Amino acid sequence: MSSVKFYLPEEQVPLEMHKVRVVQKLHLLPVEERLEKLKEAGNNTFLLQNKDVFMDMLTDSGVNAMSDNQVAAMSIADDSYAGSETCNRLLDSIKEVFGTEHFLPAHQGRACENILAETFVKPGMFTLMNFHFTTTKAHITRMGGSVIELVRPEGLVPANDEPFKGNFDIPRLKQTIKDLGAKNIAFVRIEAGTNLIGGQPVSLENMLEVAKICKENGILSVLDASLLQDNLYFMKIREEQCKEMSIKKIMHKLGKAMDLIYFSSRKLGFARGGAIISNNEELILRMKEYIPLYEGFLTYGGMEVRSMEAMAVGLRETLDMEIISQGPLFTKYLVDELDAYGVPMVKPAGGLGAHVNAGEIVPHIPHGEYPAAALATAFYIAGGIRGMERGTLSEQRNPDGSEQHAEMELVRLALPRRVFTLSQVKYCADRVKWVYDNRHLIGGLRWEDEPKVLRFFFGRLQPIGDWQEKLAAKFREDFGDSL
Ligand SMILES: Cc1ncc(COP(=O)(O)O)c(C=O)c1O
Repeated sequence: MSSVKFYLPEEQVPLEMHKVRVVQKLHLLPVEERLEKLKEAGNNTFLLQNKDVFMDMLTDSGVNAMSDNQVAAMSIADDSYAGSETCNRLLDSIKEVFGTEHFLPAHQGRACENILAETFVKPGMFTLMNFHFTTTKAHITRMGGSVIELVRPEGLVPANDEPFKGNFDIPRLKQTIKDLGAKNIAFVRIEAGTNLIGGQPVSLENMLEVAKICKENGILSVLDASLLQDNLYFMKIREEQCKEMSIKKIMHKLGKAMDLIYFSSRKLGFARGGAIISNNEELILRMKEYIPLYEGFLTYGGMEVRSMEAMAVGLRETLDMEIISQGPLFTKYLVDELDAYGVPMVKPAGGLGAHVNAGEIVPHIPHGEYPAAALATAFYIAGGIRGMERGTLSEQRNPDGSEQHAEMELVRLALPRRVFTLSQVKYCADRVKWVYDNRHLIGGLRWEDEPKVLRFFFGRLQPIGDWQEKLAAKFREDFGDSL
């Protein structure tokens, strides 16, 4: 990757390798109104209206900035139901980028997970993975299967120097296969860029080793490539064997090694949609009939054709290091700023966004009062910043109704790629630092309405006591009439 050095080293910052040509006006409400809006949203950042949010750092899903070439491609979309040219162009792009021959379209990542679970998971079966993702686990348990996580122990330590904290623990993987028996394992799923533990990457060496062990034991290997683009960046800069390889070569190695790859194109390829791809036609045929049943005809699988064109171009753009480096570089900048301010962060910086360690910031709030969700509401009060709880609230309750305490209580401040300017990122760091300095004011949350499935998406909560009013009053005291 070409690097741009600043003349004054102390001024070195990540440099945007693109320019902004379409903008969206933002609104920063006064703190009193932010408090009101939070109440209306049931203290769930998913339920805030975007017009009331200044920095939307909820997710990177479907909100990354598109390139001029993606937007241009959308205008030539061919929406014929059967034999669509758009579908052919997307397949060509997938073949070029992953080197895989077969493809099933789906409307987004979880739709692929639904089809994989329905096809391969039978009641009582296990799926092994470095770490679960919310929707993945929900689909597997819905089919009567269960999830076993085999990430290396360093992956669950919030801050250390490990370059690939998402790696599988290989000895544990081998032992687990021995203990359970290969026939009881539906598949092994590798999540590139572990979402729930800080967007931490997996090395190419580790992925290939896992695929090899699967082959030796006759178990399916599945790569969730939704967050692969940041992961590719980390492979290139942190892994010796990848330094001299092109990104395409790395992708082709993965395409060849894995039995199946699926992804959310809301993330990979800066577009919308999803796909399951493989070189194994037999596996694809086993899933094929579910596409017209659940998604749509095989030429679009529930995707809008314009999105498919954007995806075809976006996947090719994933091969460009100057494009895929922007997300991780901005994330690192935010993590480094907050770390320098003393705010406990997941380190080293991963992909997807900055992950704030709520467990350490508000240790006085027990898991059952959702420390990370409470901290996320504090960020909104402090700066109109919408982050996402990635802790106990994002877990499913155990079958006996008890809480499943999260391994880590995190607030994710996602950095949708190429969306925010550096001064906005600095503003975010400033407000998070203010919250950190006032952390003693923060209290817990309790349920007002708790959904049974994926409760974090639309459940409603209330603060325990009047701590949010006190925090807003302190904001006024410290910031005067500032927004
Ligand atoms: C690693 C991973 N897998 C799967 C998904 C599900 O994708 P989608 O949101 O498109 O359903 C996500 C979404 O955040 C993800 O991060």
